[in-house]
Formats: sequence, structure tokens, C-alpha cells
Amino acid sequence: MAYLELRDITFAYDTSENPVFDGFSLSLEKGVCLAVRGDNGAGKTTLFRILNGLSFPVKGEYVLDGVKITREYLKDNSNAKRFHKRMGYLFQNPDIMLFNAKVYDEIAFGPRQMGIGEDKVRERTEDCMNLLEIRQLADKAPYHLSEGQKKRVALAAVLALNPEILVLDEPFAGLDTKNRKLFMKILGELKKAGKTLIIATHSEEITEAFADRVLDLSTFVDETGR
Ligand SMILES: Nc1ncnc2c1ncn2[C@@H]1O[C@H](COP(=O)(O)OP(=O)(O)OP(=O)(O)O)[C@@H](O)[C@H]1O
Ligand SMILES: [Mg+2]
Repeated sequence: MAYLELRDITFAYDTSENPVFDGFSLSLEKGVCLAVRGDNGAGKTTLFRILNGLSFPVKGEYVLDGVKITREYLKDNSNAKRFHKRMGYLFQNPDIMLFNAKVYDEIAFGPRQMGIGEDKVRERTEDCMNLLEIRQLADKAPYHLSEGQKKRVALAAVLALNPEILVLDEPFAGLDTKNRKLFMKILGELKKAGKTLIIATHSEEITEAFADRVLDLSTFVDETGR
């Protein structure tokens, strides 16, 4: 059985609208890197919301490692915790993710939620700040940072939970050349560590370096909602 599977899913934001997905299926093995492409509005972010349990298909199934991921399943707190520990989501727009008063607390938030001791939380938080080269931002307010800095804080917050699957929505957006290099290095390390990577990107650089498969959503959905 596949590690991550969408079976014949249908999804529309509003039942009166054309569905973003209509009978869509996807099957992924563990440790694979999937690059997701598609025009603006093709459904990349929608797919990622479904994979992260933020939106739910009206038809079809989402199965992760043998477990059906449904609204009901995730209503249970311990299920939700287990699920979110495995699956890290870097939002296309980091503003949506960042809500703490300080960068340090933003990164420490996930590990704290998992009930890890504060010593261990500090160790993880500092490791992730070092990795993303944002130590000097520790006491700053995330909402006052530049876009590229926000993106790095958001990735640090995702990595702090050491998830086995990473869903990254346009990770290069807002990054300068130096930070693109840094993200490339981190992606390489994640791939080497056997993580499953699902990346929405228009970057040939990311796709060429890491993608085992490419999914082009433009071929599934167009403006008419086909
Ligand atoms: N919250 C929402 N409510 C209603 N419709 C939405 C919502 N979010 C997205 N849509 C619609 O769903 C479709 C897919 O949008 P989505 O954001 O998934 O595309 P995308 O591939 O991520 O685009 P982009 O490249 O611009 O990020 C579009 O037609 C969009 O207008
Ligand atoms: Mg998007």
C-alpha cells in the first residue's frame, strides 16, 4: 500500500462552484520528493490544505500510512497531535503562520505543544535558528520582519517538530539568492534524511535537484473547472 494516498477526491470551496478537484488521485511512496507545478489557481495550495487536514474532500479518501484522515479523525486531540507531528506545512504566505510575539517563541511553539521539556525545547529552537541563520532575530516580532526573514522563521518553526513529511508551498518566494542557496542546502539535507517532500514550486533548480516526480495540476484543472 502507498504511504500517502488520495483516492478519487472531489473538492470545491463552495458547493455552488466548480470543484478544484474532481476525481483526483495521488499515490506517493515514503521518502519521495514530489514537485507540484501548475498555473496560478490550478489548485496547488488547495491540494496542500487537504494534505494538511485544513480542508476536506467531499468525496473520496485521504489515507496516510494506512489511516484515513477525516474531519472526524482530526477532531480527536491526540489524533490531531500525532498527525501534525508527522506533517510539516510551510504556508505560501508565512504571515498566516506567524502569530507569536517573538521569533524564539514562534519556533518553540510546536515543540512546546508536543509536551517536550523546556531544556529540549530550547535545544531544538536554537538548532533551528542556527540552521536558518536567524539567531539575531530571536527577540524580534515576526510580523515586523521582511518577507524573506519571515519565510526563514516559518521554515524553522516547521523543522522544529522534525516532521517526516514536509509540504512546502513556494519555498523560494520572497527569498534572495543567498537564502535560496541556504534553502537548497536544507532541502538536500532533508532529502538525504529520507523525508517525504511535497513542494509547490516553479523553480527548475529545486525540481532538477530533488524531484523524483513532477505533478502538473494545470493538466487536471483549468479555468472552467474541468
Ligand atoms: N478560500 C477560498 N475560497 C474560495 N475559492 C478559493 C479559495 N482559495 C482558492 N480558491 C480557488 O480555488 C482554485 C485553486 O486555488 P489555489 O490557491 O489552490 O491555486 P494555486 O495553484 O495555489 O495558485 P497560486 O499559484 O496562485 O498560488 C482557484 O480557482 C481559486 O480561485
Ligand atoms: Mg498557491
